[in-house]
Amino acid sequence: MPQTSSLPTIGDYKLPNQVILAPMAGVTDQPFRQLCRRLGAGWVVGEMVTADPNLWHTRKSRQRMNHAGEPSPRVVQIAGGDAAMLAQAARLNVDLGAQVIDINMGCPAKKVCNKAAGSALLRDERLVAQILDAVVAAVDIPVTLKIRTGWCAESNNAMTIARLAESAGIQALAVHGRHRQQRYNGQAEYDTIAEIKSRLSIPVFANGDIDSPHKACEVLRHTQADALMIGRAAQGNPWIFQQISHYLEHGSELPPPRLSERCHVLGEHLGSLHAFYGATMGPRIARKHIGWYLDTDKRFDADQIRELKRQFNALTSPSAQRVWIHKAMADDADERLFAKGSHAA
Ligand SMILES: Cc1cc2nc3c(=O)[nH]c(=O)nc-3n(C[C@H](O)[C@H](O)[C@H](O)COP(=O)(O)O)c2cc1C
Repeated sequence: MPQTSSLPTIGDYKLPNQVILAPMAGVTDQPFRQLCRRLGAGWVVGEMVTADPNLWHTRKSRQRMNHAGEPSPRVVQIAGGDAAMLAQAARLNVDLGAQVIDINMGCPAKKVCNKAAGSALLRDERLVAQILDAVVAAVDIPVTLKIRTGWCAESNNAMTIARLAESAGIQALAVHGRHRQQRYNGQAEYDTIAEIKSRLSIPVFANGDIDSPHKACEVLRHTQADALMIGRAAQGNPWIFQQISHYLEHGSELPPPRLSERCHVLGEHLGSLHAFYGATMGPRIARKHIGWYLDTDKRFDADQIRELKRQFNALTSPSAQRVWIHKAMADDADERLFAKGSHAA
C-alpha cells in the first residue's frame, strides 16, 4: 500500500496518487484529460505540441494549446529537434498557461521522427543534453521528460539519457519500456525502468502495456517506479485510473462501472467534446472516442459493435449523438438499436 509521503512531487505539485494519463496525440485532448482527472488520474499530459511556431496557426495546434478553464497542473508536451526552438516553444507555452513542460523523446511517429524529434533524438546524446539544458534554462516551471529505452535493441541507452536528464534539472522522467524500432510491437520490458529507478533520485514513471490493476501492481513491484503511466488502456476506459489506484491502495478490485454510470460518463464526455470543438467538429471527433467505448462494452459482440459504430458515425449533430448514446446505454439497447431477429442490419 503506498504511503502518502512516497507519492511523487514535481515542483509544487504533489501527485494525489500513482496513476498518470500518458500523452497521446489525437486522444488526450482537453475534454479527455478533464474526464480522466475527474475519474482518478493523478496527473494528465496533453497531446504533443510541435515546437515549430510556424505550424501553430493550424486548428489542431490552436486547440492543443487552448487551456481555457483547465485545472492545475497543466502539463504541456512539446516535440521538436532543435534546442533553441524547443526553448522558445517552452517559453511561449508558459505564456499560454502551461505549468509544467514535458519534452517528447518517446514518440516513434514518422511525422515527428522525419524531423529528428521524438524518440529519434535518443540516437544523439549530445543533442539531447543541449535540448534539456536549453529548455530547463528557458522556463521557471518544472520540466519533465518522456523517453523510450533507446533507439534499437543494440542501442539501449536510456540509462545514459536518464543521467543526462537528472543532471540537467529535469524533475521527472517517464520511460516507455520499448525501444524506438519496436514501435508498439512486442511486449514492454520493465528491467531497464527498474535499473533507471534504482540509480536516479528524481521521480521515475513506468510506462508500457499497463492495462489492468493486476498488471499495474506487478509493474510497480518490479520497477519500484514512483508512478505508472497509462496510455492505450485508457481509451474508452477512463475508469481505469480509479480501478488501479483503488487496487494499489486497498488490494481489492472495484466493480466495473454500472450501465447508468457508463451512460453518465459517455454523455458528459460527448457534451465536453461538443463544447470544446463546436457543433461541426465536435460530433466528428466524438466518433473515435465513442468507438473506443463501444470496443470495451462487454454487452456487444464484434458484429454488433461494427453495426453500432456505423449507426453512430452517420450522426452529424450534437443532439442526435446525445439521443443515440442514451439508447445505446439503456438496459434494452438490443431492442432499441438492432433490427428484430438480426445482429447487424
Ligand atoms: C494514439 C497514440 C498517440 C500517442 N501520442 C504520443 C504523444 O503525443 N507524445 C508521447 O510522448 N507519446 C505518445 N504516445 C505514446 C504513449 O504516450 C505511450 O508511451 C505508449 O502508448 C505506451 O503506453 P501504453 O502501452 O500504456 O499505451 C502515443 C501513443 C498512442 C497509442
